[in-house]
Order: sequence, then C-alpha cells, then structure tokens
Amino acid sequence: MKNKNVAIVGATGAVGREFIGCIESRGIPLASLKLLASARSAGKTQSFRGQELVVEELSEKAFDGVDIVLFSAGSGISKHYAPLAVKAGAVVVDNSSAFRTDPAVPLVIPEINAHRIAGHKGIIANPNCAAITTMVPLWPVHRVNPVRRLIISTYQAASGGGAALMEELELSTRAYLDGKDYPPKVVKYPYAFNLFSHNTAIDMATGYNDEESKVIKETKKIFEDDRIAVSATCIRVPVLRAHSVSMTFECERPITPGEVKALLTGAPGVRIVDDWANNYFPMPKDASGQDDVLAGRIRTDLSDPSGKSISMFVAADQLLKGAALNAVQIAELL
Ligand code: A2P
Repeated sequence: MKNKNVAIVGATGAVGREFIGCIESRGIPLASLKLLASARSAGKTQSFRGQELVVEELSEKAFDGVDIVLFSAGSGISKHYAPLAVKAGAVVVDNSSAFRTDPAVPLVIPEINAHRIAGHKGIIANPNCAAITTMVPLWPVHRVNPVRRLIISTYQAASGGGAALMEELELSTRAYLDGKDYPPKVVKYPYAFNLFSHNTAIDMATGYNDEESKVIKETKKIFEDDRIAVSATCIRVPVLRAHSVSMTFECERPITPGEVKALLTGAPGVRIVDDWANNYFPMPKDASGQDDVLAGRIRTDLSDPSGKSISMFVAADQLLKGAALNAVQIAELL
C-alpha cells in the first residue's frame, strides 16, 4: 500500500470513513487518495491529513491510474465495479459479501491466513464482521487443538448496518427519552431499548438468517477446515459500534481455561479482559476505538463432561477489526 495510488469506494459511509482513519492512524504514506461515493455526495469534502479532499461520483472510469481500491458500498456496487477496477489494473480489497464464498477469491484475516493474499487474482475479500470477531480469538486455540463444534450468539452493533442505522439508533433513542414516537426507517423494528434478530433474510429451508449462514461458511473457509460444525444466532443490539459474541466450542482433545488463556496471551489481535474478582469482562464500550478483539469469561463449559468444551465472551470494534482495519491490514500486506 505504501506510496500507492489508493481509492475508497463508499468513502462517505461508516466503514469508508474508518478506512481513511486507519490509513491516517497507521501513518501509511500514499501517492494519492481518491474518495468515491454516490452522486449524492459528489463535491462534498472530507479531511485527510489536514487536507480537504473532494468526494467524486463513482463511475466506470474512476479507476484509471489507481493501484489499490478499498470497497465498502454494498455487494451490488462491488459486484459491478470491482471487476472494472481489476480490469483497469488495480487490486481490490472488498468489504462486501459479493466475493467471499468464491473459491477463486482469498478471504483473509491477516492474523490467520495472510499467506492466502499472494494467490489473489485481483480481488481479496474481507470477511463478515461477526466472523472476524469470533475467529481472531478462536484461531490460537484451533491451530493447536482443533475446534470440532462451535456455537455462537452475537450481540451486533448498529454500525454493521451502516451510517444510516447508527443514526436511527441515536434518533430513536432520543425520541424515546423525549416520549415521542419514532417510526423506524432503516429496519422494520423499534431499535431504541430493544433488540432483534439480525435484519437479513431468513433461509426458509433452515431457519438461519443470511448473517448466520455467512459466519458458518466463512469460518470453514478461513480455517480451511470443513469438519468444524458451526451454529450461530445473530442478534442486533442497541450498541453503536462494537460487536460482542458469546461462544462455546468443543475441541478435539480436553482443554482447560488456563490453557486457553495461555494460548491467547500475546496472540496477535487479541487482548485478554478476564477479571473474575471484579466481574470485569469484554464490553463494547471498551472495544470501541480499539484494534484488538477483547476476550474473557474463559471457562469450562460445565454441560460437557468430557472436558473438551470452553465458553468465552469476546468484543471487537465492528468498524475497525470487523471491517476497515482488517481490510487496510490486507492492503498493507499486498
Ligand atoms: P453516499 O454517502 O453518497 O450515499 P454505509 O455503509 O454507511 O451505509 O455507507 C455506504 C457507502 O456506499 C456510502 O459512502 C454511500 O455513498 C456509498 N454508496 C451507496 N450507493 C452508492 C452508489 N450507487 N454509488 C456509489 N456509492 C454508493
């Protein structure tokens, strides 16, 4: 990424803004940065390293002279424009779900499978945010004592639904406190002081929603292990920007909480927050703005007498490690 010509598609969005923030905070020198969004944003400015950059309307010609494009404008935009960017000679890091399950496209979490980047054919996919939050702290265990079964419940923040859903959470909360009515606009359900099943389509054959299916498929692809059985319940909670996940996993061999803690201590991208005496564990408030996934409540799953199962609670900033930071880390490794 160093000294390259970089473009961001979806630069005005919740993740797009964090792409800019990550490039700034990591001090990555660029030859140029182009900000692309819809016609609605063309002509607006956004600051980058003290300069005001003008947002341009995304078009088929926008990628001329660009080396790396970071996409986060939804999968429809990625499906149409990412191949055009590749044709123009750029490498794409795509934050949408458009290419994640394509066997020819690497799906990368740098702490786990950075080696896959080298095999790209122009597009590298950034995984689903709930998958990243789950997998970063699970990988150090899986690589030494393979996980055979994983059950997760997620507590997903508004940021995963974009800037508009974050605004809906704020406005509906304010209206609720003011005793006013707030008709939901972005999701179908009242969001303030409520939670609901993830707002993606349900597969009528299995009852799993699209988010849950993504986590299941992506875990197998990134761990390169089809034998890992995964079940997920994905829930949207009234938190602004960090996802939490409650997980229980069964390993191939018996494992103790002490062993899990030892494996996670110093593991890249993980910070242990596991203070039993003070009942202090990972919280979205503490994960917000942080690069690391916070991991705690590491304990034996008492429902499994074989001693092979562990329960754990984790939290990570959805906009950073769950999206923009992971994509920028991939781009740095290109
Ligand atoms: P815009 O702000 O001009 O609508 P979020 O994930 O926060 O909802 O952000 C989505 C991003 O994708 C925004 O930057 C948005 O730009 C951009 N976007 C949405 N539709 C299009 C489109 N048709 N062409 C280009 N960019 C788009």
